[in-house]
Amino acid sequence: MHAMTTTLGHPLAERRRTAAGTHGAVTATLGPMASPISGGRLDGVDLEALARRVPTPFYAYSATTLDARIDALQSATESHGIAVRYAAKANATLALLQRIAEAGFGADIVSIGELERCLRAGIPADRIVYSGVGKTTVDIATALAAGVECLNVESLDELQTIERIAEASNRPVRVAARINPDVDAGSHAKISTGRAEDKFGVSPAEARAWFAREQASPLVRLDGLHVHIGSQNLDLAPFHRAFAQVAQFARELATLGHPIASIDVGGGLGVAYRDGQRPPGIAEYMDTVRTALSGFSGRILIEPGRWLVADAGVLVTRVIRVKNTGTRRFLILDAAMNDFARPSLYDAWHAIAPLTPRDGTPLPHDIVGPVCETGDTFARDRLLPPCHTGDLVLIHGAGAYGTSMSSNYNTRPRIAEVLLQDGRYAIIRRRQTFDELIAGEQPARHWESA
Ligand SMILES: Cc1ncc(COP(=O)(O)O)c(C=O)c1O
Repeated sequence: MHAMTTTLGHPLAERRRTAAGTHGAVTATLGPMASPISGGRLDGVDLEALARRVPTPFYAYSATTLDARIDALQSATESHGIAVRYAAKANATLALLQRIAEAGFGADIVSIGELERCLRAGIPADRIVYSGVGKTTVDIATALAAGVECLNVESLDELQTIERIAEASNRPVRVAARINPDVDAGSHAKISTGRAEDKFGVSPAEARAWFAREQASPLVRLDGLHVHIGSQNLDLAPFHRAFAQVAQFARELATLGHPIASIDVGGGLGVAYRDGQRPPGIAEYMDTVRTALSGFSGRILIEPGRWLVADAGVLVTRVIRVKNTGTRRFLILDAAMNDFARPSLYDAWHAIAPLTPRDGTPLPHDIVGPVCETGDTFARDRLLPPCHTGDLVLIHGAGAYGTSMSSNYNTRPRIAEVLLQDGRYAIIRRRQTFDELIAGEQPARHWESA
């Protein structure tokens, strides 16, 4: 990828690559639960000691694991000229975005907030694609003013709004029609996006009519196709079906006089959260992309999110209380559903284990947080060795859709995030203070008529 050549000489990029190079073993362990924790250390940092300096709960990310993923993705894509647009929603913390920017990757965004983050992290606007079913007029105008690479359009109404804004502001823009291929990715229903009943994209029949219609603005160039069938996909077959359908549609459009310049196949490549899950490797995934799109000579883009960051992160949390009700044994952690929502939202399974297991027979535990919801549950009936108040417990695979989905529910502050590498750590987000949490709130002193 041309971008990579330009970043190789960058001192930060150089340091990142060197560091990754000294940890070749990590590349080899990519796969189920790749977080390289051994002897209580993550990326050489003693987590017990770290948790004495940084109040729990906090997210800890292994820079080495992240860099290994970035390097693997670069090698898998650059020889084929495939452009990476990292899905910022997976984790948009600036320091991580910066590392991703240094690799020359662009971003897939779904809000102007994400646009701001990506620009600040150094991702150029012309490597940022903008997806989402509900872009407002202001969102679209802001994206056009920033000069984003492409808007992935999800409805005729949106396309018409883009045309109006392009005309009014005299700004050119490229757009891609997001196709809903009616393919079930086989993942959790709440993160499947490619079935006909899902709110995303439009049918090929509707998109065909978009290409046939008289454009309301010559500034809008509709010459791309986009598809994204869902997240945490462990099976390549649905990807192949969706991509092949889009490739066939591109051929059909070309014969109708609408050559397609780019196909963006979205993200969705899954990771192994638990033993026995066998996600496809990046090479197999890229083979699927290339096979399904063979014969297509335009640009190919991919939007991986989870695959890049999930395994790099652990949520470091402490046992507040052990409570035995006679029928259930609860382990109450200081992390909660507001810090890490995936288990409560999707019943997502994450490996959870004490940092330093104690001796004793493992017993089933319900692992919960302190939030006042029964749904504030990380796991039920999980076999764990005896745990005591104050013990550190790690929730693994927390690098993706962890911090980015967190909230202030129960007036709990956003927690800290720490980047670890080669035995050292850097705070990349400090814990929110109470004053920061309530900033913007005010008493109802000034009443006005609307
Ligand atoms: C349009 C789009 N692209 C990419 C992604 C990233 O998906 P993942 O993190 O599963 O790779 C998403 C997430 O659902 C998405 O909505």
